[in-house]
Amino acid sequence: MQDLEGKVALVTGASRGLGVHMAARLAKAGALVAVNYASDEAAAKNTVRLIEDAGGQAFIVQAKLGGQQAAEELAAALDSELTLRTGTNRIDILVNNIGGGDYGPISEADEPFYDQVFANNVRGPFFLTRVLYDRINDNGRVINISSAGSRLTNPNIIVYTMAKAAVEAFTRVLAQDLGKRGITVNSVAPGFTAGPTNDYIVKDPVAAKAITDITALNRFGQPEEIAEVVYFLASSMGRWVTAQNIEASGGFKL
Ligand SMILES: NC(=O)c1ccc[n+]([C@@H]2O[C@H](COP(=O)([O-])OP(=O)(O)OC[C@H]3O[C@@H](n4cnc5c(N)ncnc54)[C@H](OP(=O)(O)O)[C@@H]3O)[C@@H](O)[C@H]2O)c1
Repeated sequence: MQDLEGKVALVTGASRGLGVHMAARLAKAGALVAVNYASDEAAAKNTVRLIEDAGGQAFIVQAKLGGQQAAEELAAALDSELTLRTGTNRIDILVNNIGGGDYGPISEADEPFYDQVFANNVRGPFFLTRVLYDRINDNGRVINISSAGSRLTNPNIIVYTMAKAAVEAFTRVLAQDLGKRGITVNSVAPGFTAGPTNDYIVKDPVAAKAITDITALNRFGQPEEIAEVVYFLASSMGRWVTAQNIEASGGFKL
């Protein structure tokens, strides 16, 4: 269904992993998609090619997000690309997907480690949204990618858990703020999903079983399954859902 025809979406971190599938899903529904990446231009171009081969429209915008300046650089690149393609610099759907980070207990979480995890998961989405705030069309969408890890008490992911909890709090407050413009703001929290981040676990039978044994649906998620939730929220089907965190984890560690 081409129900996002005429809409413009920006997906951050869409050169690899889950972001590729989110970008492809929104493009399949007819959106023009800006594919952001940090360093791997060839991979970002692959995402665009994948979308174009399927009949969709996309372009790349490089920016290593993490603060105000990078967000402004991305916005400037977006401005020129969008003005060329649509005649305005406005967007309808912002998917704040970048995130992740190394794991480690509090004893190993020194300042550089802490700052890196917060830069990717919190500062990146926060400052990008701040810079694009006025360019998001009324009745638009902001979709922040959190993690099932936000509700865990695993000491080995303490900083990541804190950062994703901040993403979910950001989501709720922003939903209150942008609601007056008809913009919904939600987060999607994947669990263990197949793809480059988890390949080493998926391919290790013992480690893989340890994960699937504590997943109600008894398997890893597929990136397309996360992308479907993002699409649902982006589409008109999601218009009455705001300020929510939707976990898509197959029932991880219930
Ligand atoms: N994979 C999972 O199972 C899982 C589970 C729960 C939550 N999540 C969340 O889902 C999101 C995506 O995870 P993923 O596993 O798909 O990630 P990934 O495979 O590590 O992909 C990261 C993507 O983000 C880009 N990127 C990284 N840092 C960036 C920055 N500072 N600015 C701009 N782009 C940046 C990378 O681009 P370059 O390669 O060009 O640098 C790449 O396209 C994250 O928020 C993560 O916390 C994932």
